Amino acid sequence: MQGREQWATRVGFMLAAVGSAVGLGNIWRFPYIAGEYGGASFLIVYLVCIFIIGLPTMIAEFSIGKRGQLDAVGSFSKTAPAKPWVIGGWLGVITSFLIVSFYAVITGWVLYYMFSYLTGSIQQVETGGVEEYFGGFTGDAILPVIWQLIVMAIIVGILYFGVQKGIELSSKIFMPLLAVVLLILAGYGLTLDGAGEGMSFLFVPDWSALGDPSLYLAAIGQAFFTLSLGMGIMVTYGGYLSKQTGNRLPSTATGIVLLDTLFAILVAVVIFTAVFTIGADTDQGPALIFVVLPEVFNQMAAGGTFFAVFFFFLVFIAGLSSAISLAEVSISFAIRQVKLTRKKAVLIVGGLITLLGIPSTLSQGGPLSDFTIAGLPFLDFIDVLTDSYFLPIGGLIVVLFVGWGWKSKAAFEEADFKNEAVAKTWLFLIRFVAPLMIIVILLANFFGIEA
Ligand code: PHE
Ligand code: NA
Repeated sequence: MQGREQWATRVGFMLAAVGSAVGLGNIWRFPYIAGEYGGASFLIVYLVCIFIIGLPTMIAEFSIGKRGQLDAVGSFSKTAPAKPWVIGGWLGVITSFLIVSFYAVITGWVLYYMFSYLTGSIQQVETGGVEEYFGGFTGDAILPVIWQLIVMAIIVGILYFGVQKGIELSSKIFMPLLAVVLLILAGYGLTLDGAGEGMSFLFVPDWSALGDPSLYLAAIGQAFFTLSLGMGIMVTYGGYLSKQTGNRLPSTATGIVLLDTLFAILVAVVIFTAVFTIGADTDQGPALIFVVLPEVFNQMAAGGTFFAVFFFFLVFIAGLSSAISLAEVSISFAIRQVKLTRKKAVLIVGGLITLLGIPSTLSQGGPLSDFTIAGLPFLDFIDVLTDSYFLPIGGLIVVLFVGWGWKSKAAFEEADFKNEAVAKTWLFLIRFVAPLMIIVILLANFFGIEA
């Protein structure tokens, strides 16, 4: 995506944005966070955050990019020179850099699982033994690092040779396939013994859980993470939109948000029907899908291995396309600000991301497990710091910038609303509702206020 080329079609733009949005956030992170926060209660708050905050923020990010026609930092400073808003762009570079470092680690786990199915080693695990199998892998001092390095090498290779366009293709072919596989798995999940319990965990809320302020922070953080918001990625994509053609940003953004949400809910059905069938814990954190899914695949009468390989392959592609969009933020920044050539920027930034990822890799049962920051292992700390704090702050800057920093006429023009009532609702959401919700949730957590 170098140079100032523009999206050939609205569909190309949408596919790239979907490629960034749908990823491990839906498949790995959503179920484990929902599991930690009680299932249905979390789901409700999450859906509110997605539609009241996430969707309006996405439209705002696209608008900034479309107006600035540059990457995140450039678009911020061009549309509001000499104003402090550019901090939003800088924060985005830092956040995406931190996120991709552990994102590649989890993508490495996914790839390892795919190979374990190909070589047949994971199929031999006895029922109930996957937890130990997974712990053996992540607890190793070398093996998970090797898989992290393989994933980083693939990411760097793709960026180095400039074939990200191929990844956009993946949204067209592999994402629909992933949806089909998930539908089949969800259907299978509904036939399992724990289906009823799993479904009520996911859809019947326990209202008392709503008094916990950290649930709201987790929900808002997950909403930003899953939609790739709060760090300038959607600003960058918007920067490739041409000014002339109608882009219908609101309907495009709505489509992306709906797709992403459907993926998350489908995955949750697959996971929680399985969790209650095998009697696993809902709140086991980042290990959740890696412990639960193989038990299901191993139980399938026919085609378990085939489904498993296919599934982990598709998740790998989904993770890869998101990781590439994350890494691209730091790389285009290094090219523009540090004036590196593209190839140099890819190698240097890629090397730094890899290094930062190593302590994350070793923190999940491995040699660095006991080294904690704020009581969290390194990977979990970087995850919470970025998703629960940096992303909401980045999103806050975006909505304040477009809502208050621009004249409403300019905002409406870039966003390209067809309906005035909808446009006004959007402006109200980004001016008042989203900023207030973000600020209140951040403060409540900062001061530990119970609702
Ligand atoms: N949205 C991606 C996912 O759900 C993760 C991501 C976050 C990608 C931020 C890019 C930027 O997996
Ligand atoms: Na997502």
